[in-house]
Amino acid sequence: MTARYRQQLFTPAVKSVQETAGSRRAYARTEDVPADADRLGGPEAAFIAARDSFYMATISASGWPYLQHRGGPRGFVKVLSERRLGFADYRGNLQYVSVGNLADDARAAFFFMDYANRARLKLLGRVRSVDLTADDELRASLSDDGYGAVVERGLVVDIDAFDWNCPQHIVERFTIEEITPAIDQLKGRIAELEGELAALRGKVA
Ligand SMILES: Cc1cc2nc3c(=O)[nH]c(=O)nc-3n(C[C@H](O)[C@H](O)[C@H](O)COP(=O)(O)O)c2cc1C
Repeated sequence: MTARYRQQLFTPAVKSVQETAGSRRAYARTEDVPADADRLGGPEAAFIAARDSFYMATISASGWPYLQHRGGPRGFVKVLSERRLGFADYRGNLQYVSVGNLADDARAAFFFMDYANRARLKLLGRVRSVDLTADDELRASLSDDGYGAVVERGLVVDIDAFDWNCPQHIVERFTIEEITPAIDQLKGRIAELEGELAALRGKVA
């Protein structure tokens, strides 16, 4: 866990619970060292670039957290630099709760899951909405040719902090894309065995 992440999320109430639970001392060590915003390393960049979805929590002016799913082709979240992500925001149900919340408060939490490998990455950042019709370079960076969605805007995330979680309690799940090679292999083997069986039946008859 980075010092920055602790500084952003270990509020007095959180620290108080840690104190009661006996974990405070272990977490306190690096907390008071001033830390710049985190920079993505190779593992984080590769992990994000391999995702086909994530969850994004924004803050409503009513005080409620708001969680929404975003999905797209694998790699639709682009790592623009060590400190910046971007993705195309597709047209949906026209409620605009997330982008409306972000207009009030740019802070958002992101949750990237890799169910197949039982890994998860949490990230905090400030998000700005960009009109891609006025920014050819960013539109090219965030576009995925051939993906059937209407892109309404670009969302650019200035990363503040991130943290990896342990794999505990993550049940493995596989997408059709991930499981198809294994199924194809089995289908091939079944076809081979059916061929052998037919040949043997021919010999017996
Ligand atoms: C026609 C249509 C209907 C949708 N209906 C819902 C819905 O009822 N609830 C929901 O959470 N998402 C729905 N979605 C997906 C959301 O529109 C999409 O996740 C969008 O990004 C939500 O953004 P927001 O929650 O930030 O407003 C729908 C998408 C489409 C295209």
